[in-house]
Amino acid sequence: MKRLAATTLTGIAVLAFAAIAQAEPDGEAIYNQACMACHMTGAAGAPIKDDEAAWAPRLEQGMETLYDHAINGFQAMPPKGGQMNLSDEEVKAAVDFMLEPML
Ligand code: HEC
Repeated sequence: MKRLAATTLTGIAVLAFAAIAQAEPDGEAIYNQACMACHMTGAAGAPIKDDEAAWAPRLEQGMETLYDHAINGFQAMPPKGGQMNLSDEEVKAAVDFMLEPML
């Protein structure tokens, strides 16, 4: 009986870990780490987070184009903000975090 309980607990722990591993990437953390240096200061002409006038014409391109430009780069915007270790999903989460207040 004891062994059964231990096995069940291990199973629950594995399931909980799997759920955490599959959770949505944390857009805020990724933004802070990979995007903020330019998108908070306007460095290199980057549109500043929450600057609606700067983002309005960009938002008109649609989210798919903005995701594409964030992942693959666009003029002075380096692909993935220069952090090629980020997955496409992580970059998209950072775009969502940056633009969500304006959507
Ligand atoms: C080295 C500075 C720099 C970093 C780091 C950076 N960006 Fe940018 N980003 C720019 C610049 C500059 C532009 C404006 C490009 C232009 O329009 O010429 C831009 C534009 C964008 C755009 C708008 C593209 C468009 O089509 O208008 C998005 C979306 C974006 N960045 C997302 C991100 C995300 C997400 C990150 C972090 C993963 C990030 N950027 C990191 C400099 C940076």
